[in-house]
Amino acid sequence: MTAPTTLQAGERILLQARSGRKTFLVELTPGRTLHTHDGVIKHDDVIGRPEGSAILSHMQMPFVAVRPTLVQKMMKVKRRTQIIYPKDAARIALELSIAPGARVIEMGGGSGALTLLMATLVRPDGRIYSYDRNAEFQEVAKENVSKAGLAAFVEFFVLEAGQPFGQSDVDAVVLDMPEPWLAIRPAHESLRLGGALGLIIPNAEQLKAAQGAAESAGFQDLTALEILERRMLVRQKEGVRPSERMIGFTGYLLFGRKY
Ligand SMILES: C[S@@+](CC[C@H](N)C(=O)[O-])C[C@H]1O[C@@H](n2cnc3c(N)ncnc32)[C@H](O)[C@@H]1O
Repeated sequence: MTAPTTLQAGERILLQARSGRKTFLVELTPGRTLHTHDGVIKHDDVIGRPEGSAILSHMQMPFVAVRPTLVQKMMKVKRRTQIIYPKDAARIALELSIAPGARVIEMGGGSGALTLLMATLVRPDGRIYSYDRNAEFQEVAKENVSKAGLAAFVEFFVLEAGQPFGQSDVDAVVLDMPEPWLAIRPAHESLRLGGALGLIIPNAEQLKAAQGAAESAGFQDLTALEILERRMLVRQKEGVRPSERMIGFTGYLLFGRKY
C-alpha cells in the first residue's frame, strides 16, 4: 500500500516544529487551524503539499509536515491504560510472525497501541480479534484503531479472562494483562498447531506463574526474556555516550508454540 505523494484532507499527519522536537498529530481538515507556541498553521496550507514539505506558521516559524511512523502512531494513541512500548511490540510481532493474512487474538487490548501495529501488519486479509474485560478502555482502543484507518482489520469483544475465545485455528495469541495464566488454556484451545503464544508481564513472580501455566497447558519452546533499550547521545564535539535517562523497565516477555 503506497501512500499518495501529497498529503490529503482526512489524513492524520505530524506537524513538527523546526525549533525543537515538538510534534502535533492532526487530522487534515479544510478550514481548520492548529494553534502552537510557534504560531498558527492553516490545514489548508498543508493539504495537497508533498510529504516532507516545510510549512510556515503565521509567525513565519518553520514546521515540517510528514506522515507519522508506526512508532509515532503507537506512542501517540489516546491512552486510558499503560501501553506496550515499541521495543516490546516489535519483538512480539517477530516472534509471533504477525504478517499479511495472519489471524491473531489479543487479550488486554487496553488502549489499542499493540492492536494498531498488528492490524497494520496483517493487512489486507488478516484479522485481529481484540479482547478486554473493560468496555470503556475498549471504546478508546476502537477510536484509536478507527482514526488510524484500521477498523476493517479488527474485531472487538468484551470478555473476562478464563472464558473461551470465539475463534479457532488462529495463528497467534498475545496476552497483555497482569494475570495471563487465566487465559493460557483458552489461548491453547484457539491456536492452530504450530501457532505461537506471546505475553508481556510486569513482575518476575507473575512470569514464573505464567510459565508454569503455559507448561501445564502444553506449550513448547518456552522462552522468557527482557528487552533493554538505551538511547545514544551522538555528539560531534562533546563525545558519544548513552543518555543518562532511559525507560529502565517495561515488562518481561514470554513466548511459546503449540505443537
Ligand atoms: C496494560 S493494558 C494493555 C495495553 C495494550 N496492550 C496496549 O498496547 O494499549 C492491560 C489491559 O488488560 C485488561 N485486563 C486485565 N485483566 C483482565 C482480565 N482478567 N480479563 C480481560 N482483560 C483484562 C485491562 O482491562 C487492560 O485494558
